Amino acid sequence: MAIQRRFHGKSTDANGIYKKIRQNAPKHAPFWTGTRIFLLVLMALAACSAGWLFLLWGDDITETLVWQSEIVQPPRVFKVPCSEDYNKYKRYPGCTPQTCGRAVTDHMVTQEEAHVLRRLAERGLSVGGSDGGASILDLHSGALSMGKQFVNIYRYFGDQIKEIFSEEDFHLYRDVRGRIQQVIAETFGLDASLLYLTKPTFFSRINSSTAKTTHDEYWHPHIDKETYGSFDYTSLLYLSDYHTDFGGGRFIFVDADGNRTVEPRVGRVSFFSSGSENLHRVEKVEWGTRFAITVSFTCNPAHAIDDPTLP
Ligand SMILES: *[C@@H]1O[C@H](CO)[C@@H](O)[C@H](O)[C@H]1NC(C)=O
Ligand SMILES: *[C@@H]1O[C@H](CO)[C@@H](O)[C@H](O)[C@H]1NC(C)=O
Repeated sequence: MAIQRRFHGKSTDANGIYKKIRQNAPKHAPFWTGTRIFLLVLMALAACSAGWLFLLWGDDITETLVWQSEIVQPPRVFKVPCSEDYNKYKRYPGCTPQTCGRAVTDHMVTQEEAHVLRRLAERGLSVGGSDGGASILDLHSGALSMGKQFVNIYRYFGDQIKEIFSEEDFHLYRDVRGRIQQVIAETFGLDASLLYLTKPTFFSRINSSTAKTTHDEYWHPHIDKETYGSFDYTSLLYLSDYHTDFGGGRFIFVDADGNRTVEPRVGRVSFFSSGSENLHRVEKVEWGTRFAITVSFTCNPAHAIDDPTLP
């Protein structure tokens, strides 16, 4: 402003004009003033650190194996070398994992069937439920989260159980279990009749409430074969949609070279060999409610469990 005022309406000689142009030059190219450079540097630094923060605390996902929006028909298979874990146990030819990996299909269970199972889970869990964010219902043993512990839903509700579950519900559950067993056998080249349902096999309902006991802490990385020695193949049937029904809550394979997710989708079946080649965790649920069923299989007939039946 001072510069402008000083030269305004003054000398008209050539020298004066050039001088005026030169003097005015900063006014026409005012961008790179000290203050602006400082602000730009500050903005660049802020952008960089936001990027770093995102890398550090944001999404740790290296690769999405299957997106929620996809519909996977024949199983999409991702092979991983088998860990040594299976050597610590008796081997069962035709069943014990010899090729390991993970697979996902949306073609085993229809959306309608998944909705029926979801309503079953909703009804069962509505009569109980953990104080923390994660509740389970195990139709085999009857275990149902209640407050900070578990009750036996069959003993607790006695005859009234028939107001919660129907024979059709249980029929569908058994049917779906059989189909999952079949697809696992086909995918891993096993004899389906040498694969047995094992425990725990259960419904889970997770929301964003704070954990109250360790039973609520579903997000820690773990190895199923280590947690439950009997497991050889683990499967998950999703009963709600990532992004629509809940946020967070993606399934993550924690590999040495990166984190790979499967995004839950209603009716989606995800299955994998249970050894440390498939270290995994579930991302914390941020909003909404996530329903799924964990269906577990063993090669050891001594660890087999029966399909559930209504008492
Ligand atoms: C999670 O579910 C429990 C049991 O139904 C409920 O009491 C709680 O309010 C829910 N939390 C959130 C954050 O919705
Ligand atoms: C995988 O996720 C964990 C925890 O979220 C993170 O600490 C780790 O850096 C991630 N790994 C890679 C390779 O991104």
